[in-house]
Amino acid sequence: MTVSSAPGKVYLFGEHAVVYGEPAVPCAIERRATVEVVPREDDHVRVRADDLSLNGFTVEYEGRTGDDPDVDVPRPLVEAAMGYIDAAVRQARAAAEAPAAGFDITVRSEIPLGGGLGSSAAVVVAGIDAATRALGEPLEKRELADRAYRAEFEVQDGQASRADTFCSTMGGAVRVEGDDCRTIEAPNLPFVIGFDGGAGETGELVSGVRELRERYDFAAETLATIGDVVRNGEALLSEAIPETDPSPELLADLGDLMDFNHGLLSALGVSARSLDEMVWAAREAGAHGAKLTGAGGGGCIVALDRTPESRTALEFTPGCQRAFRAELATEGVRVE
Ligand code: MEV
Repeated sequence: MTVSSAPGKVYLFGEHAVVYGEPAVPCAIERRATVEVVPREDDHVRVRADDLSLNGFTVEYEGRTGDDPDVDVPRPLVEAAMGYIDAAVRQARAAAEAPAAGFDITVRSEIPLGGGLGSSAAVVVAGIDAATRALGEPLEKRELADRAYRAEFEVQDGQASRADTFCSTMGGAVRVEGDDCRTIEAPNLPFVIGFDGGAGETGELVSGVRELRERYDFAAETLATIGDVVRNGEALLSEAIPETDPSPELLADLGDLMDFNHGLLSALGVSARSLDEMVWAAREAGAHGAKLTGAGGGGCIVALDRTPESRTALEFTPGCQRAFRAELATEGVRVE
């Protein structure tokens, strides 16, 4: 049996625009998906996934991935998760040149599904890592990140950047611009996360932005402006002392950029009332800045705040199901 885990992430800046070659800065957070893999004698894949959501319910699923007509898929979110696991299995088989390898797979995750915290990337990264190790063919991290990206790209109909999968593989703060992916130094950013209990549909949201971009020059310019916000944010991070508590001035400046980034994402139609309400609750409680994270449409916001006020305010915000602090996860994928 092999067990690997990989972290979720928040976008400090740059989601959606990263799909069009602008830079983005996602940061891994200490919320992990863990995948356990046991090779089988036959070529079947059986998946068991418990507690795939922070949504207050536990998902019990047992079935075979692939074209098995007997698979009983109880919930749309679980179906989506199974699509990612299928794609991860295909990548692991290809990497190990074992096209008929079968597995019993158990997935556990502390990351809400589809909530903008990189749940699918974490499951794919941990899944490919555990499955290739089970086949005796562990992958070097860059290749693992590349295969995980290909899995997401396939499931999201060719609309995925390398940001989520690279961040989940490497951990820490990363910078992604097209195919250029690198880790960057970052101070200890005090992330506060609010979760509305829902999920956005990444493929649909990315398609919606694509249509706007094709229709209106100002939508294309909005995406380019997000790129400018990211470059400003990167410059601020590069002046900070890594792995120390950031100064109040730095937090204020990063927060301003997060607010700006949220406004631009709202203009592109990917926010939601629940996300806007959480963003405003955090700001009014003194957070330095707040924005949605990930594809949007529902799910999570991320705020910067060292004090407990914005988390408490989020907990009392109608529409916020859960609020929590998240540490930067310096470690990416790891063997458990
Ligand atoms: C989704 O977590 C982030 C998006 O930028 C899509 C992607 O980068 O693949 C919306």
